[in-house]
Amino acid sequence: MLNWIESRTGFVSMAKDFLTEDIPGGASYWYVFGSATIFAMSVQIVTGIFLTFFYAPSATTAWESTRAIYLNPFTHFLISIHYWGASAMIALVFLHMLQVLIWGAYKSPRELQWIVGVILLVVTLVLGLTGYLLPWDMNAYFASQVALNITGTAPIAGPLIQNIAQGGGVMGTNTINRFFGLHVWLMPAALVALVGAHLAIFRHNGPAGPISEDPRTLKPGRFWPDQMFMDGFISFLIFLVIVALAIFSPPFLDAKADPTNSTFVAYPAWYFLFLFEALDLTPPAFQLLTTIVGPTLGLIVIILLPWLDRSTTRSIASRKGVIWATIIVVAGIITLSTMAQLRIQHEQSLAGPAESQAQILAAAEPAAAAETTGSAAATGGAAAGGADLAHGQQVFSQNCSSCHGANGQGQAMVAPPLAGNPMVTGDPKAVIGVLVNGLHGQTIMGQSYAAQMPAWKGQLSTKDIADVISYIRGGLGTNKAAPVKESDIK
Ligand code: HEC
Repeated sequence: MLNWIESRTGFVSMAKDFLTEDIPGGASYWYVFGSATIFAMSVQIVTGIFLTFFYAPSATTAWESTRAIYLNPFTHFLISIHYWGASAMIALVFLHMLQVLIWGAYKSPRELQWIVGVILLVVTLVLGLTGYLLPWDMNAYFASQVALNITGTAPIAGPLIQNIAQGGGVMGTNTINRFFGLHVWLMPAALVALVGAHLAIFRHNGPAGPISEDPRTLKPGRFWPDQMFMDGFISFLIFLVIVALAIFSPPFLDAKADPTNSTFVAYPAWYFLFLFEALDLTPPAFQLLTTIVGPTLGLIVIILLPWLDRSTTRSIASRKGVIWATIIVVAGIITLSTMAQLRIQHEQSLAGPAESQAQILAAAEPAAAAETTGSAAATGGAAAGGADLAHGQQVFSQNCSSCHGANGQGQAMVAPPLAGNPMVTGDPKAVIGVLVNGLHGQTIMGQSYAAQMPAWKGQLSTKDIADVISYIRGGLGTNKAAPVKESDIK
């Protein structure tokens, strides 16, 4: 079988070739950062693809669909993994880069591998930045607004780039669509292609190995099985950490973006905190230096590093300048990030107590809720036929409106409409069954929903259930079906 495949594809000898790769000095846990980064990238690709099954990019559905993702336990786990996987990937990219810097592994003949690596860092950061906007909550909106406005201040092309990225003069559905396209398609495609190039060049030059005056004296090791085991083991540990964080510290979905809010304290992703703080410390007249000129120059210096570092060996002693510069930059980034973190926490505490995640997820659209409370109660009584519709309405606004909407109009992706829904006004036995036992996974009026209809038996009294059913059948919208009695429920 293997021979058959080999003679037609050459895959078997390619795999052998790959696995028997020489590792100067033998396998080591020092070499796991690159493969661990690729592992984190794979986690992001898999979870990201699944999230696109549930996410709907537009100003009226982005937050709503994200909320639905949070309300369903499976998709909530998925988005939490994606959230922590992103942090893991960026942290690993930084560590990988730091190691190459300290070991001088960017030196000839690995200049191109280094440059592709720097571009990969930029692509990863753009992925982080574009993903940050997609939930379209308060924080996503205002943090992205900062980034977009900074882009707009760049000389010459800035306003044009901002207009293209934003999809017009203000942030809205077009912005979400631009960021979505960049985040799920263009940047991942670039990432995968560049990782391919990075690995192909790596294969061509071989691993740099430990710093050594005479590399010929290093005893060669093999990729398989020792290095493969170490890579796999560390990736597995990283996965466990991501899963634990996803379970015990899931991300926070803030209230839906409200562009009119002027007091909200935006919080950037942790890997941009240092820039955020640097910007805050710069006097307004010089902000262009911090936001555009500094980062651009920094990037150019990093790209040119193989030519700026003129030492002939990789030894740390002969590269004191690079090592000191690295230490100072890393210490600076950590200090600025800590300052930003403390400042934001302080500002948030001044802003007053925040709503809890449960409160935010339970809140229906506030405007709609206010508008109906009166009218439905007023019309309810007349059609009551003995059932207590006013009480049913109360039960509804407390238990049902957060998902089904204050008017029973439903919510895209979350829960179906109950007003104008023939199932609700149809066979009362079926409605009672759904209320008592809950429901999930149905296609209702052509749509499916991520949230679960809870089982209300034990949560609500029999009277509550009878009254709320009478209300949704006879008080919501144009629904005019007969009420049910407590005895029907039993
Ligand atoms: C956590 C969100 C949530 C809450 C709260 C909730 N529902 Fe539902 N409800 C749903 C979802 C989601 C469905 C669709 C289930 C499916 O996809 O199979 C549903 C379905 C229904 C249906 C069946 C509709 C159909 O066409 O089959 C009825 C009736 C209903 N809900 C009534 C209520 C009532 C009354 C309450 C309050 C006592 C309530 N729901 C509270 C989410 C919710």
